[in-house]
Amino acid sequence: MSLQKTFIVFTIACMALVMAKTQRLNGLLPERSILNFMASSSRALQGNPTRSLECFDYYIPIIDETAQQYQWDLGNCTEAFENAQQAAFQASSEQRNQLAKTVNDSCEILIECENAATAEDVYQCYINQGPTEAKTLYTVSIDATSQYATLEEKIRQAQSEEDMCNTKARISYEKDSTQAYGELNSCILNDTPIPTTATPSSKV
Ligand SMILES: *[C@@H]1O[C@H](CO)[C@@H](O)[C@H](O)[C@H]1NC(C)=O
Ligand SMILES: *[C@@H]1O[C@H](CO)[C@@H](O)[C@H](O)[C@H]1NC(C)=O
Repeated sequence: MSLQKTFIVFTIACMALVMAKTQRLNGLLPERSILNFMASSSRALQGNPTRSLECFDYYIPIIDETAQQYQWDLGNCTEAFENAQQAAFQASSEQRNQLAKTVNDSCEILIECENAATAEDVYQCYINQGPTEAKTLYTVSIDATSQYATLEEKIRQAQSEEDMCNTKARISYEKDSTQAYGELNSCILNDTPIPTTATPSSKV
């Protein structure tokens, strides 16, 4: 293998490595654009390996950065969901406490029946209080049903907001990475000058 061929193989292997790494990070790379990129670049790579390497040096960090930003964005989406979910749980805490109190009071009354003064009073207590407390417990069930529905609705909403947040992050990532690959491609094809500054010219 000539030195130049070795270099080209190395460059392509390097490129594949970067792509594999990015792909592992998120699994959502716009693969078609990468295939297009590889197809159109491989010929140019052979033409001017030194130039290609300089293009890679410049764009690989930018491409890494878009993937990193995507990870951060997804992390923020998850965090926002978790906060909203936590807030929904907390918002229901007072109501749940109230239900617990009602149940405790009802049970307390029935539990106390056995301590009534006489046998007749004990029976009267069960006979009278039984249906009353049963009714109270029934309203607990009704209230719990409606409170639970409210909680579920809040969580569903938080989930759909997370979905939208994830989608927004993915679209932005796809846009940024497609642009970076496009610019890298142009750089390799000699359409655009090799950027000279260490900092990216376009915000990604
Ligand atoms: C949220 O985004 C910011 C800026 O992009 C980032 O610094 C931070 O790490 C992200 N938070 C999480 C939990 O990923
Ligand atoms: C209900 O009773 C249980 C057991 O006696 C007690 O641990 C709990 O704190 C009570 N809850 C309320 C809200 O009063």
